[in-house]
Amino acid sequence: MPLVNSKEMFERAYKEGYAIGAFNVNDMEIVQGITEAAKAENSPVILQVSAGARKYAKHAYLVKLVEAALEDTDLPICLHLDHGDSFELCKDCIDGGFTSVMIDGSKLSFEENVALTKKVCDYAHSHVPYVTVEGELGKLAGIEDAVNVSDEDAQFTDPNEVEEFVKRTGVDSLAIAIGTSHGAYKFKPGQKPRLRFDILEEVSKRLPNFPIVLHGASSVMQEYVKIVNENGGRMPDAIGIPEEMLRQAATMAVCKINIDSDLRLAMTASIRKHMNEHPDHFDPRQYLGDARAAIREVVQHKIHEVLGSSGKA
Ligand code: G3H
Ligand code: 13P
Ligand code: ZN
Repeated sequence: MPLVNSKEMFERAYKEGYAIGAFNVNDMEIVQGITEAAKAENSPVILQVSAGARKYAKHAYLVKLVEAALEDTDLPICLHLDHGDSFELCKDCIDGGFTSVMIDGSKLSFEENVALTKKVCDYAHSHVPYVTVEGELGKLAGIEDAVNVSDEDAQFTDPNEVEEFVKRTGVDSLAIAIGTSHGAYKFKPGQKPRLRFDILEEVSKRLPNFPIVLHGASSVMQEYVKIVNENGGRMPDAIGIPEEMLRQAATMAVCKINIDSDLRLAMTASIRKHMNEHPDHFDPRQYLGDARAAIREVVQHKIHEVLGSSGKA
């Protein structure tokens, strides 16, 4: 099966009340860990590449790795650009084999965001085959590759703007800000995690049958924070998005849930543990093999226990 865009994945996910996991990929072990998990769960999956990942691993290597995973698993896999910040970057990815892109104009004014997102949609939609486009309205707190938004600047999505944005741009899905944020420090210790489900509800009323995307959806799994800290790491208290909230969002209009930090954490925990337990090891296949297994375990857990996409391939 060739790479697919996100259209049919989202149509079915919306109808059946689950979400597709969008996991960030940077190297072979991550691609393998994620796709082995998706295979074990017979789940569709989105592999997403940030500008930073593209710089680190190079476009061609990542595309070939994803193609290899496709051949290996025969699953519906969508290759998506995460947080594209310019028309040129989106065009490069579309021309270079990606089946979906995000244009993140959330730091721009509404009018500038509309203009940039429409330009990307016009190009992506006239491409053969059709490339899907994700836009963003509202600002998440935290650090992204191309977008750096401080807590004070974080701004929930205004439901009054979504219809006009979607109509004028032609975007295929929309990322919204309802209280999630990027990275491992989403809520301060002692703070009670809270998502604005009322905004999600209102957005989905304004946009019937339209797929919504949640960024910054790692839960900062405490078992891995513990392993990191028991093995020489120093991660301060970190609180992520509770998995039951993600489960709830997946039953609503949210069709794509972005997870990266939980994978980074699992990978780092397993390598730290491995190094601590085997100070004599110096074959990268030993600790990277463990890291790959840790990624697989986390992704399988997310698919089975949080997203609900098991058996939907
Ligand atoms: O939202 C951003 C993703 O976690 C990717 O992070 O830009 O450091 O690759 P990155
Ligand atoms: P996390 O940092 O919560 O994993 O979010 C990842 C993300 O939104 C990628 O676009
Ligand atoms: Zn993101």
